[in-house]
Amino acid sequence: MVKSIGVGLLGLGTVGAGVANIIQTPEGRHPLVSEVELIRVAVKDLQRQRKASISSTLLTNDPIEVIDDPSVEVVVEVIGGIEPARSLILRAIKNGKSVVTANKAVIARHGEEIAAAAKEAGVYVLIEAAVGGGIPIIEPLKQSLGGNRIQKVSGIINGTTNYILSRIEKEGAGYKDVLKEAQELGYAEADPAADVEGLDAADKIAILSALAFGGPINREAIPTQGITNLNIRDVEYANKLGYGVKLLAVAESLESNNHKESSLPLAVWVQPTLIPKEHPLAEVNGVNNAIFVEGDPIGEVMFYGPGAGAGPTASAVVADILNIAGISRLGSKNNSLDPLLEASSWRSCNLVKAERIIQKHYLRLKVEDSPGVIGQIGSVFGQNGVSIQSIVQFDANEAGAEIVVITHAVALGKVTASLEVIKTFKAVQGLSAQMVCI
Ligand code: HSE
Repeated sequence: MVKSIGVGLLGLGTVGAGVANIIQTPEGRHPLVSEVELIRVAVKDLQRQRKASISSTLLTNDPIEVIDDPSVEVVVEVIGGIEPARSLILRAIKNGKSVVTANKAVIARHGEEIAAAAKEAGVYVLIEAAVGGGIPIIEPLKQSLGGNRIQKVSGIINGTTNYILSRIEKEGAGYKDVLKEAQELGYAEADPAADVEGLDAADKIAILSALAFGGPINREAIPTQGITNLNIRDVEYANKLGYGVKLLAVAESLESNNHKESSLPLAVWVQPTLIPKEHPLAEVNGVNNAIFVEGDPIGEVMFYGPGAGAGPTASAVVADILNIAGISRLGSKNNSLDPLLEASSWRSCNLVKAERIIQKHYLRLKVEDSPGVIGQIGSVFGQNGVSIQSIVQFDANEAGAEIVVITHAVALGKVTASLEVIKTFKAVQGLSAQMVCI
């Protein structure tokens, strides 16, 4: 008889229940699924009603019982947050168990420490579910695209904010109502501020960058702007100018072909972004995510699909369990790991300061509707080396007018220097909004 692969589950919320459901219904799936056995499940509250039917004999409210159980070969961590998740993962590794986690917050901040511990113990830590929900992106970056020099990774990687922005844009729906719906649908984080402030997307782009560029990323240094200050007026103006608005996360290599630095310079950021309506990202709506990877020699590939929710995220978790199960079937020699699956870093990366990042900027200025204002503004941009793609005046009346400027690609520092001068003009009442465009 084939020995089963024992799985211990930490957490039985939206994702945990989705994983349990797949493992308990193996019919029609890959034969390896039927060899996966749920051994123990740690939950916070033993009395709570469950989204998956689990025999009460498997449940415990002590995660250590799961991690220390000798029949558990793979620990699946889906409780989220930094602690106790980090300590539980490290303890599982120390116990010689491989770990599968959907926890982007812990991997973005402690990925190096966890990877080093796993290498030392000769076990795997797989994280397919941490980015892009059900979209396979982690293993493709680690394995299928391994022959490329990656130049850029960018995309929509938070389902909750994309759901909110799509509903606002298409139906003019209210922000709070739509956020509540996203929570009910199981898309939002336990603390939805992580979604709407852009922190979840920043965690995910930190993880993608580390894999794509081969070195750890300083998560705290990523310039991050969420959608909480986004004004519906800017969504309307963007629409009139032929753009949609999405929360975009970008990581780009700034290394030039003839100048190789010892540490790879990267521009990484998360920001609401105007996307031309004809661009494929403009059509990524609802909970869907899409990730563009640009590399040499592949060119451009896009990964697209559901970025959050029980089923899609559980699909990614189970894929990782099966990867480990398959390797376990082969048996390992001297703790040696598959070098592509283990994903350790091989160079150092440094994040450039926000002022050096080159982007197209969207600026909305509140001004007096008086002669010469547009000329004055235009000449300050010109003096600072900022080239303007378009400048449009909206909603002019006695109270004033709004001027929307879209620049050509330029370093943020030059835009900031121009705005400092522009804001001193008597006819300029203030800067009402600032975003970027692709
Ligand atoms: N809260 C996350 C999102 C869940 O909305 O994308 C998936 O990581």
